[in-house]
Amino acid sequence: MKNTSTDLLPDLSHYWVPFTANRQFKSMPRLFKAARGNYYTAMDDRQVLDGTAGLWCVPAGHGREEIATAVGKQLLTLDYAPAFQSSHPLAFEAASRVADYMPKGLDRIFFTNSGSESADTALKIALAYHRVCGNPLRNKLIGRERGYHGVNFGGISVGGIAGNRKAFGNALSGVDHIRHPLDIANNAFTKGVPQDGGIALANEFELRILALHDPATIAALIVEPMQGSAGVIVPPAGYLKRLSEICTQYGILLIFDEVITGFGRLGTKFGADYFDVIPDILTCAKGLTNGVVPMGAVAVKREIYDAFMEKSPTGAIELPHGYTYSAIPIACAAAIATLDIFKQEKLEDRAASLSPYLEVAAHSLKGLPMVKDIRNIGLVVGIEFESIAGKVGAFAFAVYLKCYELGLHVRYTGDIIAISPPLTIEKHEIDRIFSTLSDAIKYVANQGETGLNANNYLKIEQSWAAHQPIQS
Ligand SMILES: Cc1ncc(COP(=O)(O)O)c(C=O)c1O
Repeated sequence: MKNTSTDLLPDLSHYWVPFTANRQFKSMPRLFKAARGNYYTAMDDRQVLDGTAGLWCVPAGHGREEIATAVGKQLLTLDYAPAFQSSHPLAFEAASRVADYMPKGLDRIFFTNSGSESADTALKIALAYHRVCGNPLRNKLIGRERGYHGVNFGGISVGGIAGNRKAFGNALSGVDHIRHPLDIANNAFTKGVPQDGGIALANEFELRILALHDPATIAALIVEPMQGSAGVIVPPAGYLKRLSEICTQYGILLIFDEVITGFGRLGTKFGADYFDVIPDILTCAKGLTNGVVPMGAVAVKREIYDAFMEKSPTGAIELPHGYTYSAIPIACAAAIATLDIFKQEKLEDRAASLSPYLEVAAHSLKGLPMVKDIRNIGLVVGIEFESIAGKVGAFAFAVYLKCYELGLHVRYTGDIIAISPPLTIEKHEIDRIFSTLSDAIKYVANQGETGLNANNYLKIEQSWAAHQPIQS
């Protein structure tokens, strides 16, 4: 393949790449220059199948002209309107459309710019709600081990991923965590939702955490219906319902962080719909604009909004919180266009009907070397590998690199590969995802130590990095 990519490779020195090993990445940059449908175009013009819908955020596939047109038009109509003390009509239209899409009752919408901001906004609303209702001592927040709620201080405090917390000091006080529901010893290779243990695990929230803290001091419990970032952890049957009952019993607000599970990922609009549990507050982002303009939203039950309106002093700002770019016009235009696509193409139903096919394809990897567990729900799969002592994550990273070399983008986290394709994925592309993964897993395992050395992958990108001409 002829290429003059040395001309195309940008200066890599200035950009500090987020959540990335920069030194490693800059020695073998993996850059996409275009995307359309379910594929990226890599720098060497290879088509790379998007096995992850970007970062879980492109459910309707790439390059959607409806969204591009709406955003472009909006930019030339109203590029910006001050978000505080004034607004613009599209913000209200977008909020109505998001409210329509939400589970019943969650119809008051606060806009943010990301999942992280949505998580922190939800936590702040929960704290402020109890205060405005005359219960300022209800100010503790409960998260879950291995939970991911973004990277801001509230999110990392209730989050349960040690690597995301330990570098950043003490975070918020008054926070505790319930146990995560992953139980590989009993549930390895479960297809879909594990059937056992859900109620007992949820009861631990009451028996351990509430007993320890006094339920009257707890403002909110925040959980992802399905834990995505920490490696696709599917909750057991009955677990979320029981958590919800406990919250209701003790006046604790239940927050679902649906940044990943929202917008069709589980084959329903939200995880709340899938598990038939309506939280008090629901956060989302990512798929809300099909990933093209940063936007998040926090939906709250009408009673929560009404409490702020009824109990705040007359003339007061009821919630002193917001962002310069809350409901920026182009984000609203993108969100409305995205919701139109969901309505027309019924992407949630498409995901639901493809889910059994994905399940069979995913579980065909059982028995391959190093594969310790396979988990799936909706259009999500997690494949967990045995960890190698002293080299945690090295096997999954090598599999990720090999997949990329073979024209498939997957996501790795620790020793887990996560698959979450656009909801527009076709069956033959699902086949390709899992045959490529199978080849990659076998390849890396067969190489032994050599297979774990990242420098043995992606020769093309490495030669760009060295500014050498690519060989044909
Ligand atoms: C459940 C959950 N919450 C919050 C976030 C953070 O979103 P963002 O990266 O848009 O801040 C993510 C991102 O993956 C997520 O999965």
